Amino acid sequence: MDSGKEAIDKINTHDLSQIQDILNAANSVVFFTGAGISKESGIPTFRDKDGLWNKYDPTKLASLTAFKSNPKLVWDFFYSRQRLICEAQFNDGHKTIATLEGTNFDSCWVLTQNIDRLHQRAGSSNVIELHGNIFGLICLHCELEEQYDHQTFFEKFDESQIPLCKNCNNILKPNVVLFEEPLPSFDWQKAIQLSSTCDVMFVVGSSLNVSPANMLPYYALKSNATVIEINPNATEMTRLMDFSIRSSASLALPMIFGIP
Ligand code: APR
Repeated sequence: MDSGKEAIDKINTHDLSQIQDILNAANSVVFFTGAGISKESGIPTFRDKDGLWNKYDPTKLASLTAFKSNPKLVWDFFYSRQRLICEAQFNDGHKTIATLEGTNFDSCWVLTQNIDRLHQRAGSSNVIELHGNIFGLICLHCELEEQYDHQTFFEKFDESQIPLCKNCNNILKPNVVLFEEPLPSFDWQKAIQLSSTCDVMFVVGSSLNVSPANMLPYYALKSNATVIEINPNATEMTRLMDFSIRSSASLALPMIFGIP
């Protein structure tokens, strides 16, 4: 089977050894991750059949317009997701990526669309959070930013209240990129630079539906990187991938990197 551009319905030994040969020669690797890598930690994705956007309207819960018109509803939605994330554990997919930092490659970065910080809880430190993180808060009025973690967040905030800025007393917003908001420019530029200079990009658990984050695999392809997709389902970009592995992240990543 020509593994180039062909979806492989599991990692067969021929493709696995090809991927491992490519990794042995690689100096820099990037993991572009989406909600799918956290699904096995119990955090719902957005566009799977049981995903959040098949139950709720994102324009009412995760857009800047919604936040400005009904901050209480948006905060109730985010408080419930924070609760779930506080209870969640990272899985073997997050852990495999974290073990690679500072060992096999000169450069190993995570470019994540996820706001759950499970990559960091698994031990990754080279992480760019393209869409922010759910335990950060920002004041749209005076731009004050505060960062908490999953252990202390609910000691500081009461779910029946909308958090207020201690600087100017305006309401605080979760420091995540809502629909209608731009990505943080410094992080975005760094993500483009890393995607354009890596030898290998893994695209793990993303439907590649949301721009501009879904442009990053194109930067890698344009720079002749090997791009490997790990997703139980095909995506818009499957036909462009060098390998597309129909598997869950927590199975495929340890197998590829030989982690028991
Ligand atoms: N392992 C790997 N991939 C998985 C797994 C798994 N165990 N389970 C599901 N997937 C795949 C699904 O097949 C799907 O292609 O994960 C993908 C999740 O896609 P989305 O739900 O669209 O999530 P994502 O691509 O991260 O969405 C991007 O959309 O709403 C915004 O801000 C939100 O960051 C999010 C962005």
